[in-house]
Amino acid sequence: MSPISSVPALAALALAGGVVLAFRIPKFRHWWFSVLWAAIGADIGKMLRPRKRELLEEHVKAGDVLVDVGAGYGASIADYTLPDKPLAKLVLLEPNQNMVPALRRAAEAQGYTGARLELYTTPLEASPVRDGSADVVLLSLVLCSVPDPELAIRHALRMLRPGGKVLFLEHVAAAKQGEWRYLVQRALTKSGFWPAIGDGCCLDRETGRMIESCTGWKRVALKEFDNTKGLWLVRDHIYGYGVKA
Ligand SMILES: C[S@@+](CC[C@H](N)C(=O)[O-])C[C@H]1O[C@@H](n2cnc3c(N)ncnc32)[C@H](O)[C@@H]1O
Repeated sequence: MSPISSVPALAALALAGGVVLAFRIPKFRHWWFSVLWAAIGADIGKMLRPRKRELLEEHVKAGDVLVDVGAGYGASIADYTLPDKPLAKLVLLEPNQNMVPALRRAAEAQGYTGARLELYTTPLEASPVRDGSADVVLLSLVLCSVPDPELAIRHALRMLRPGGKVLFLEHVAAAKQGEWRYLVQRALTKSGFWPAIGDGCCLDRETGRMIESCTGWKRVALKEFDNTKGLWLVRDHIYGYGVKA
């Protein structure tokens, strides 16, 4: 190869190296994910909305304090703002600072202002919400990307009063471990590629089993569903609730 013809190859290598390095910087990963979720989050939310509405209509009551963990751009706010069941208070936890201004606007547009709204940019694991002060904690598409899902559940339970509920809607590993989808999910996750572009998202978590195996529940009820309209890699989901003992 002549020195001149090797220039494009070297440039491509340098570019690839730069991209890999950039995804190691948390600020860049957060920025990237805020752009990505702005582009695809609304469509994903629309596909999952019927299940989410079912959960919220069944488990949210008038006067509840609800904590929406990893609230993103506020995709769920309209779904738990039910005219006949006004919340006493909405607490939003969203560590990605790039999403926070739009999240606040979404909450205010639904009438959450003043003492009815608390918004924290801390992750769930550092949540300042007082022990036992919440009636409902919503985890919608969050347990795939927290560093330690069991620890996250413990923190969700900590914020709840006894008898309070955690509501779950999560994508999970493909059910049949031998199948192609699971193998691809595992390869993309273990290689670090998917967590890098998805702000920590892991495709191969058996989140349903993990939730059921956690202590601190009086009852857990989860259902599986296949989001056939979604991306082939991210079709398998669970949704349901756990009641704190
Ligand atoms: C895939 S988005 C889902 C957003 C929203 N819940 C929804 O259903 O559209 C995942 C969100 O979880 C947030 N997140 C990630 N790790 C978190 C943590 N440890 N504590 C709280 N939120 C977290 C991310 O910043 C991101 O906004």
